[in-house]
Amino acid sequence: MGEYTVTPWEVSGAVDYERLIKEFGTSRIDEKLRSRLLAKIKDGAYMLRRGFFFSHRDLDLVLDDCSKGKGFFLYTGRGPSGPMHIGHIIPMVFTRHLQQAFGANVYIQITDDEKFLYKRERTWKEIDAYSEDNIRHIAALGFDPDKTFIFRNSEYVRNVYPLLLKTARKITYSTAKAVFGFTNETNIGMLMFPAYQIVPTFFEKKRCLIPAAIDQDNYWRIQRDIAEGMGYQKAAAIHSQFLPPLAGVCGKMSSSKEETAVFLTDDEKTVKNKINKYAFSGGRTTIEEHRRLGGNTKVDVAFQWMSLFFEPDDAELERIRKEYESGRMLSGEMKQEAIRRINEFLAKHNDAVQKVSIEKYTHTGRLARKMWETTYLE
Ligand code: TYM
Repeated sequence: MGEYTVTPWEVSGAVDYERLIKEFGTSRIDEKLRSRLLAKIKDGAYMLRRGFFFSHRDLDLVLDDCSKGKGFFLYTGRGPSGPMHIGHIIPMVFTRHLQQAFGANVYIQITDDEKFLYKRERTWKEIDAYSEDNIRHIAALGFDPDKTFIFRNSEYVRNVYPLLLKTARKITYSTAKAVFGFTNETNIGMLMFPAYQIVPTFFEKKRCLIPAAIDQDNYWRIQRDIAEGMGYQKAAAIHSQFLPPLAGVCGKMSSSKEETAVFLTDDEKTVKNKINKYAFSGGRTTIEEHRRLGGNTKVDVAFQWMSLFFEPDDAELERIRKEYESGRMLSGEMKQEAIRRINEFLAKHNDAVQKVSIEKYTHTGRLARKMWETTYLE
């Protein structure tokens, strides 16, 4: 069995997602549950159908709550350590689809505190600038401005400090050490941080559903141990796999490794060059061999990216798969297909980034105003 690591701060090796379900104690999204959710969502359904979102905690209870008219709320987040790459927005896009389907409130936490503490080479000024930049990219994804609250931890802390302390008081050092692998070298700010990532799961008295990649699950495990004792509900989660890095199946796309990722701000030419130069190909060594044996879509990163995110249309994806596997489509042509879709997506996205007003999400929209009026003092 190959070795791999999945923690909130490190993903490396060839991740075995089936094994991870057992190790983390989560549940596979089975056919029955998938159909139940698919019956409710339209856009974004392909991410569920194709198994990109593969694991969960209590998703069935979320759907039960919906049938009973109780509803639920959504929570996700981003650590602003640098510019965002396309992997980072996948859970956000899925969250937006869920918001559209269920009309649920969405809370998006910007963990400027976490990234300042963890990335010791960064200044506060840099983290602050990335927060502003990342919020803009997230807001541009089209969340409902009246039902979405995007907040920076350092700013919103004044409203939640008592709740944060109540949460922190429930988590021992030995639990945090066991779950997050803290060592003697970990700075003490990081010891407190996990409590803050748990706090938003308590923002409403309804069940909280968290869409994120599976690297964030550690926090939810602790949340589920302490929530009921604090008078709240256990958080539910829906976990995605990682969009693979350009170079292939190991680890995840990483902002600190330029050549592994496509950033939201990459221009057309950069995207083209990166894909052509770095995207691992499932093509054969010679054209003759490729025509005879066909390409391997299972390892071809350009194909994988289309399958996981950039090509929602099943029939179109199937056409590409057949062309490639039969050898009619060459590796360079496969890359062309991906480059065109990525660039179309980024052009549309950056147009929205120019136009979006982030205030609605952070301060002036209906939910944002309500949140700034609320302090969790009881
Ligand atoms: P961060 O900024 O590391 O990641 C943001 C979100 O992107 C997911 N993610 C990926 N998804 C698919 N493919 C990838 N290659 C990939 N890389 C990252 C992450 O799982 C995450 O959902 N501490 C958190 C911020 C946070 C948060 C949350 C995230 C605060 N509260 C609640 C999710 C849910 C962080 O630094 O995420």
